[in-house]
Amino acid sequence: MRQTISKTATDPEVFRAPSLFYAAAREGMRDLLAQPEVWRGERRAILLPSFIGWSANEGSGVFDPVTGLGLDPGFYDLTEDLAVDLSSLDARLAERRYDVVVVIHYFGRTERAIGRIRELTDRHGALLLEDLAHAWFTHALGGPAGRTGDVSLYSLHKMLPMPGGRGGMVTYRNSGWISGQRETEPGFARHVLDHDPVGIARRRQENFRVLTGLLRALPELGSGFELMWPELADDDAPQTLPVRILGPGRDNRDHVYAAMNREGFGVVSLYHTLIEDLRAHPSMARLSRHIINFPVHQDIAPDDYPALVGSFRRALGTARPDTSPDVGGASLLVQVQHL
Ligand SMILES: Cc1ncc(COP(=O)(O)O)c(C=O)c1O
Repeated sequence: MRQTISKTATDPEVFRAPSLFYAAAREGMRDLLAQPEVWRGERRAILLPSFIGWSANEGSGVFDPVTGLGLDPGFYDLTEDLAVDLSSLDARLAERRYDVVVVIHYFGRTERAIGRIRELTDRHGALLLEDLAHAWFTHALGGPAGRTGDVSLYSLHKMLPMPGGRGGMVTYRNSGWISGQRETEPGFARHVLDHDPVGIARRRQENFRVLTGLLRALPELGSGFELMWPELADDDAPQTLPVRILGPGRDNRDHVYAAMNREGFGVVSLYHTLIEDLRAHPSMARLSRHIINFPVHQDIAPDDYPALVGSFRRALGTARPDTSPDVGGASLLVQVQHL
């Protein structure tokens, strides 16, 4: 017990979580994974979730560092709504030794089992890397996202208007993992401080809830589309609002994507095509054919949504009726170039 108390905080280690800045999150991830100290043996095995996208323009933000460094990847399953399947994670960890486990807080939604995942990774001596590429504002709201793992990864250009559309940040909650890393964009730190993260988080939450309310009232709900995340937790700030477009193959989703973008509504599909290792995964490949993500970012106000919903209904109205089961797209590569 302390016998004296200082007037101000002087211990530099208390709540220390140093951040390194890069042109993109993947560059920072690569910088971490390139450190020999991360690996306990020659194999350099890394365990990742089963929903990881790829595109011709962008490559794969999560997977490019893995292939680039010649690491040995394994994959654990996720539930239909992109939460970690703990029994699958447990089974993969028991099968062989992984030195790094990646957990993605998809589209800004907190992975609620992150505490339990930490127990598992600790038991196996693995580094827990939280991918918060979409979750900077969720982290800012104070919940467990980005407060549980050893290292957190943020894609700043996806969340903030960054100079040149660039920016990534890696935060070391355990600074013992910093060895030979070299940040490339230290000046980007100020752009993070130049914005009010909680204000932005609240705006995104409001947008998500208003849009969910409008979508829930549509007669096409259940026949033309389904909500993936009907509720938003108070400590989650979404990157986008994901829905599933119903219908055979990927045709209807691609149709909605193209029609809405033609009308000026910036929807995306995260992820429309999976990395090659995952293209045969039954449930995740199916999700990749149906998912579409509506924008909820801070430039939008709730009043903007009726026009977007109108465009969505027009697109659904010209989509194919959902008569046949989804047996998989004929081609895994889409014709339209999704963002
Ligand atoms: C989940 C996830 N993690 C990491 C990344 C990489 O982000 P960046 O484009 O900043 O490298 C992306 C985007 O590609 C992503 O979607």
